[in-house]
Amino acid sequence: MDSFELNKVAGAVLGTLLFVMGSGFLAELIYHGKPAGNAGYALPEPAPTASAAPEAAKVEPIAVRLASASAEKGQAGVKACQACHVFDKSNTNKVGPGLWDVVERKLGSHPGFEYSAGLKEKGGAWDYAQLDGFLENPKGYIKGTKMAYAGISSPQERANVIAYLRTLSETPKPLPTAEAKPAEAKP
Ligand code: HEC
Repeated sequence: MDSFELNKVAGAVLGTLLFVMGSGFLAELIYHGKPAGNAGYALPEPAPTASAAPEAAKVEPIAVRLASASAEKGQAGVKACQACHVFDKSNTNKVGPGLWDVVERKLGSHPGFEYSAGLKEKGGAWDYAQLDGFLENPKGYIKGTKMAYAGISSPQERANVIAYLRTLSETPKPLPTAEAKPAEAKP
């Protein structure tokens, strides 16, 4: 093949390429010329009803759950906490503060423990309701808490753990009176 012929071949190849690219561009113009816009119409969606979340509404107040809670089961339930907390009377700090006599203790008040700013700012005491809220979802309850623990999602298991925490004291605090208990419907 001499160079003249080579040129012809190269020209043919280039020409074909140009044609393919050019027709692709044209096709693009023809077939996707303009956006479809909002074709069709929106279907009406059923409004969410209260019955959509029956479990969420069913959680009994902590006072009611504590009345039927088992401190023994709670003791078994704190296995995961023991990586970070001491529960006995020595009340020493580990990754987390000692938890002896924690019920009704002021938040963030255990000597020698460096609490997060979030926990110190929260204020108040560890009453049953605060413990319930914190243990359900530590990070959601106290923004910026140092407690790297996901929480106990089962309401009754949480009550068991809190019932166990209550026993960790020379003088266990009284159980909450069940004023929060909803009036029972008589049949
Ligand atoms: C990965 C370690 C870790 C685990 C697991 C853990 N904690 Fe904690 N806990 C901490 C830390 C750290 C703090 C201090 C939080 C802060 O300063 O924000 C804390 C704080 C607390 C407090 C507040 C005490 C006070 O003096 O104010 C309670 C109550 C508590 N934890 C209970 C529990 C229970 C019950 C469990 C198990 C169900 C548990 N924690 C699991 C690390 C942990």
